[in-house]
Order: sequence, then C-alpha cells, then structure tokens
Amino acid sequence: MTDVYSGHSQFILLTDNRRRWFDGRTVFLITVISLPIIVFCGIYTIILKNNESLLYPKSYGKVPSLWTNRAKIYTNHPKTYPKNNEIHLFGAKTFNQIDDFKLVCYYNFPTDDFNTLQPKNIDPFLCTHINVGFANVYNNTLTLDVSQLEILKSVVGLKKINNKLKILISVGGAGNDTGFAEMVLNHATRKLFIKSVLEHVKIYDVDGVDLDWEFPNQEPHHDKYQRMHFTQLLEEFRATINKQTRHKFMVTIAAAAPPFLVDNCYDVSYINQFVDFISVMSYDYHFYSKITPFTGLNSPLFQSSQDKGYFTNLNINYTTHYWILKGMSRDKIIIGLPTYGHTFRLTNNHNNGLYAPARGYGRLGSDGFVDYTQTCKFLSMNQISPVFDMEARSPYATKASEWISFENEQSLSFKAEYVRDQQLGGAMIYSLNTDDHMGACKIDPNIHNEPFPLTKKVREILDRNYSLF
Ligand SMILES: *[C@@H]1O[C@H](CO)[C@@H](O)[C@H](O)[C@H]1NC(C)=O
Ligand SMILES: *[C@@H]1O[C@H](CO)[C@@H](O)[C@H](O)[C@H]1NC(C)=O
Ligand SMILES: *[C@@H]1O[C@H](CO)[C@@H](O)[C@H](O)[C@H]1NC(C)=O
Ligand SMILES: *[C@@H]1O[C@H](CO)[C@@H](O)[C@H](O)[C@H]1NC(C)=O
Repeated sequence: MTDVYSGHSQFILLTDNRRRWFDGRTVFLITVISLPIIVFCGIYTIILKNNESLLYPKSYGKVPSLWTNRAKIYTNHPKTYPKNNEIHLFGAKTFNQIDDFKLVCYYNFPTDDFNTLQPKNIDPFLCTHINVGFANVYNNTLTLDVSQLEILKSVVGLKKINNKLKILISVGGAGNDTGFAEMVLNHATRKLFIKSVLEHVKIYDVDGVDLDWEFPNQEPHHDKYQRMHFTQLLEEFRATINKQTRHKFMVTIAAAAPPFLVDNCYDVSYINQFVDFISVMSYDYHFYSKITPFTGLNSPLFQSSQDKGYFTNLNINYTTHYWILKGMSRDKIIIGLPTYGHTFRLTNNHNNGLYAPARGYGRLGSDGFVDYTQTCKFLSMNQISPVFDMEARSPYATKASEWISFENEQSLSFKAEYVRDQQLGGAMIYSLNTDDHMGACKIDPNIHNEPFPLTKKVREILDRNYSLF
C-alpha cells in the first residue's frame, strides 16, 4: 500500500522536519556564538576604537590636584559679570624703549612622581629671575621644609655662575594658600610674615619674595577686607624694603588674568606703587570643567571670532589692557606664558574645533594638564600636525577624541613679540619644569634637540643679543 507518492511525501515531510530542526539549531548556534562577538565589537567600536590608533607616551606623573583650582576659578565665570565691559584705549602712547626685558621663570621643587628637573640642570643664563616655589604661609611665617631649603640653596648657587640672576621665593600657589587669609588680618601678623621673609633674604641670599595668593577676596576663604589687607601687606613690605641698607629685596605678586578677578582681588593703582612687578597668570583661560564642557585655548593672545560674551575677555591682550586701564604701569606687567598645555576629551571626534563639546580631560597628561615633552612626543608618535589658530596665535592638536591646547615656538614668538611691541616689563614662564627641559622631544629626528626650547624661544625674542644658534 505504500505508494511511491506517499513515501515520497513522507520523505519530503522528513526533509522539511530536518530542515526546520537544522534551521532552528543554526539560528541558535549563530546566536550563541556571534552575540558576544557582536556585543564586543559594538563596545569596542564605540568606546575603544575612538583612540584605537593613538599611542601614548609613558611615564607621566600626576600633577598636584591643587593645580586645577585656578583653572576652575578662571573658567567658572560669575553670572554677574557685566557684559558691556568696554575697554578704551588711551590714544597714541609713547613708550619708553626698554632693552632689558625681564624673563621671570617659575621653578617648582622637584618631587618623586612629578617635576624631575634638578637645579643643576637649569641654565643660569636663560632667565633673568627664577621664582622658586612653593613655600607656605604657616603660623604667619614663610615656611619651607628641609628638602625644599636644600633645593633653594642649589638654585641660589646658580648666581655664582651668573651674578645678574635674581632668585625669588614664591609663596602660596594654586589652591595651597590658605595661610594668607590669617596672616594679612592685622598689622601684627603681617609684620611677623615680613620679618620671616627678611630673614630668608638674609640667610639664604635670595633677592625677593613672590606672593602667589590665589586669590584675595575670593571664595572659599574670603572676607571683604582681604583686598585692602593685601594692599596693606604690600605697602608694609615696601616700607620695610626702603629701610634696608644692605638687604634691599624685591616684592612681586602672581596676579590674576580674568577681569572679574582683577576687580575683585586688587587695588591696582595702589599696589602699582608697592610692587617691583606683577607676574600675570595669563593662562588657564580655557579648561575642561563641568561648567565649561568644551574645548578652548590655554593662553590665546587675541580674541577669536568664535569667542562670545565673557569669553571675549579671556585672552592676553584683553588682560594686558585691563591691568593698564586699572592703573598698573606697563613696565611692571610681566606676561605669563605657559609651557604646559590642557587636554580635553571630545564628545564627537568629528566636531573638533574651538568650543567643540568635551566630556572630560584628555587621556594625555593628568587632570587635563600636560607638559611640553609629553605633548611633543604624543604628536610625533601619532604623526599629528597641529592646527594653528591665527586669530588667537595658538596651536591645538586633535586626533580621535583627544584634543590638546599647547604652546610651541611659533605661538610663543608671537606672544613675546607682543610683550616687545607693547613695551611691557617682560615675560613670565610657567614653568621651567613643564618645558622640554631634557631636550627629549624629537619632532624632527635630524634636528639636535635643545633643552628648554620654549623658554629659549621667548628669551631669543625679548633679547636681541641672545640667539639659539
Ligand atoms: C607660632 O608663632 C609664635 C610666635 O610667633 C610661637 O610662639 C608659636 O609657638 C608658633 N606656633 C606654632 C604651632 O608653631
Ligand atoms: C600645602 O601646604 C601645607 C602647609 O600649609 C604643606 O604641608 C603641604 O605640603 C602643601 N602642599 C603642596 C602640594 O604644596
Ligand atoms: C587688543 O585689546 C584692545 C583693548 O581691548 C583692543 O582695542 C584691540 O582691538 C585688541 N587687539 C586685537 C588684535 O584684538
Ligand atoms: C646688545 O649688543 C649691543 C652690541 O653688541 C650692545 O651695545 C648692547 O648693550 C647689548 N644689549 C644688551 C641688552 O645686552
């Protein structure tokens, strides 16, 4: 009874069943095997592939986390700042030609994990002034620990090689300057501090003190009298210095750059009479923070057409004119130039100009800070050509999600020329430690690398008689 057809049909049925069974199993197998691969590839593409092609230089220590304090104060601008803050230039101005620009270089005490630059490796003829930092204000007195004093002595020893070199002790620094608030409070405590400075001048043969309080009359330890007390401190310093016969010394300050801080923290025309000069911290103008989650330049010279509102005030040119407008003498204004850069992590790799959305610090460097050696190595390892923003006279470099604002010889030449053209007192470098102090960066393998290429470039522009070659 079995007919061919039914057998045939049974066969067909069987094959269909098999096929169905086989199909189900295939789908199952494919799913089981490929799902993790698909998920992995997806995650890899989204998270890792952004930086897949990037190589990072090794051995970068952590920066002191306190360093981010100033950058945050600068970038987290107050809403109350007036929008129409116009600055009027004072017509034609005749400048006194100065041929002795200052080059004030900050030198941070070396530590194990960061700042490996030793005093013996500092060129004694590179800078006119070296600010050694940072000392603390402790119990109303200038305080350095034993290892810091040893380093200080070695730096002062450089004067034996260049007797024109001036060494100052820098007190305070970003975020670690709480001792100032207590010390400036009254005449008696200020007197204790000034006395302790004078003792250091006498004992260690230093040439002065640089007060780096960031900032008087500013959160979180502020009171409304701090600005006045700071002025009084400087006035009393000047009176003490005037009384010295053998131990005259300099008093300088590290001063804020954004106009709202200049207004808030300093009686400019008063302190102008008392200080030898001010080192303006004209950097950290743009920095990643939750309030400013976008890219920007660390130390732009001029306003960029993309700057809006408050950000039009954040450049060296605006800061310089603001200090002059408020009463600071041109020849006492020392323009701060960074050798370090800031890194950002882009939200969208393809949106990578100025003011591009950022979602954190870059991977390069630490806490958004990166020294020139690391930047330079990173650029050459990944063959990245920086973009030069001609408006701001500053470069930036970007690849995948990494975005870096930094300075190079070209940008610092423009900025040093500005110091010349405007006949200011000179330039300040922050810092020797973050310059390529070993000459380790090789962009062009055929070129012999000089140590301190950035600081040397500034020196070369400011001093017609100085040449790199
Ligand atoms: C603080 O300084 C005063 C004198 O100026 C001294 O008597 C006191 O012992 C010091 N305190 C500490 C904790 O060092
Ligand atoms: C901050 O100041 C305190 C003393 O006031 C000092 O012990 C400490 O080492 C300082 N930290 C840094 C990073 O300079
Ligand atoms: C520099 O600042 C002054 C004063 O704000 C301004 O008049 C001038 O146009 C600025 N220069 C440039 C090139 O932006
Ligand atoms: C630069 O060199 C010229 C000529 O050699 C000299 O007259 C001048 O004093 C030098 N200037 C400085 C700042 O050394």
